[in-house]
Amino acid sequence: KGFPDFQNKEGRLVVGECTAKDLAATYGTPLYVYDEEALRRQARTFVNHFKSDSYKARILYASKAASFAALIRLAKEEGLNLDVVSEGELYTALAVNFPPDRIIFHGNNKLDRELEAAVEAGIGFVVLDNLSEARRLSTIADKAGQTVEVLLRVNPGVEAHTHDYIKTATSDSKFGLGLATAGEALQVIQGLPGLRLRGLHCHIGSQIFADDAFIKAAHIMLDFMVACQGQGLSMDILDLGGGFGVFYEDGDQPIDLAPFLEGLAQDLEKEARDRGIRLAEVWLEPGRSMVNNAGLTLYTVGDIKRLADGTNYAFIDGGMGDNMRVALYQAGYTAVLADRLDDAADNTWRIAGKYCESGDVLIKGAPLPDPQPGDILAILGTGAYTFSMFSGYNRLPRPAVVFVKGKDHREVVRRESLDDIIAQDLLE
Ligand code: LLP
Repeated sequence: KGFPDFQNKEGRLVVGECTAKDLAATYGTPLYVYDEEALRRQARTFVNHFKSDSYKARILYASKAASFAALIRLAKEEGLNLDVVSEGELYTALAVNFPPDRIIFHGNNKLDRELEAAVEAGIGFVVLDNLSEARRLSTIADKAGQTVEVLLRVNPGVEAHTHDYIKTATSDSKFGLGLATAGEALQVIQGLPGLRLRGLHCHIGSQIFADDAFIKAAHIMLDFMVACQGQGLSMDILDLGGGFGVFYEDGDQPIDLAPFLEGLAQDLEKEARDRGIRLAEVWLEPGRSMVNNAGLTLYTVGDIKRLADGTNYAFIDGGMGDNMRVALYQAGYTAVLADRLDDAADNTWRIAGKYCESGDVLIKGAPLPDPQPGDILAILGTGAYTFSMFSGYNRLPRPAVVFVKGKDHREVVRRESLDDIIAQDLLE
């Protein structure tokens, strides 16, 4: 339930046409697994339902959610655009020949080196965070004899009801400029050599379930665009960011994307028309909702420990290093025993990892049939912000990533070896 892309076949967890058990046996655990067809279906949901006759609708995959060559190549094949926030993410994209004009550079405190790399690659747009960055980019672009198309990130001040750490558009946010100061900054940006001002960006937060928050932010942005145009600022692109919530555990009620996207596309047409502004392009930047629920992580159950106070611990061979989200955000997840889906729960189990940290618990109380050492345990819906936020604490190796396509499966990122772990250490 909540994970339509994974199946239960006679009590066994199946991805595509492969059992989780076989994948674990073939590649070892911990293992990040993605269903390639599910990834492609989700990309098409965005592309096919966010469309307009009056403006160009672009879907940018926010590659911070998960960036590795096979996934970025898939995004390229599906016709997506790409949001990168660092030289590393840009390098990954260029390594798979992602068309530079479909890459958008985001983030705060972009380094000169990163801006130079972006200009040199000829990427489509840079979303500016502030005026100081705008001046640096202007110098770099001008020196290279190029004109870079830019948007400015602003905060519409919409409350999005999500975790404090992933809330990004409050008035004291480190990202972007408040509407009160943005106007002046835009005037300066419009006059800078090497830059061509095209529009505005906002991102109101992440893991959002309230569809009205997006609509509200969109309307505030359109109003602000009208005000900007009134002051002679040229802008015809609106980037509404990402943040669409996904199902992680019982009780989560994500937005039904297809009808929401269609409604949003139409609403924007009408609202722009009513305000008398011409929109050339509207962008959305889904990260989590693009990839999360096509992915899961497989672990092997190790020791079992039953404490006197009734707490039952099942230890797994990974934990907070390969999924930092629980320790960082108290995120909730759903766990299953991959070969015992039809067995009734015996007890409530605390799923803890092997990192030397008390907070290394992936699930506090999972109702499960009593796990046995050697069982494969799957945490479902781990496609976003797990691999990409991997931490090498305790020198545990980063797990491999596998793509499943029907009966076929292939490793797309190999598991770190012990030699990889010490590869950067100067031994002498
Ligand atoms: N665009 C911008 C400018 C962003 O800052 C973000 C996410 C996105 C798009 C994609 O948002 P999404 O659709 O994935 O919600 N590490 C946190 C999430 C941090 C999100 C930061 N910005 C987590 O694991 O929940």
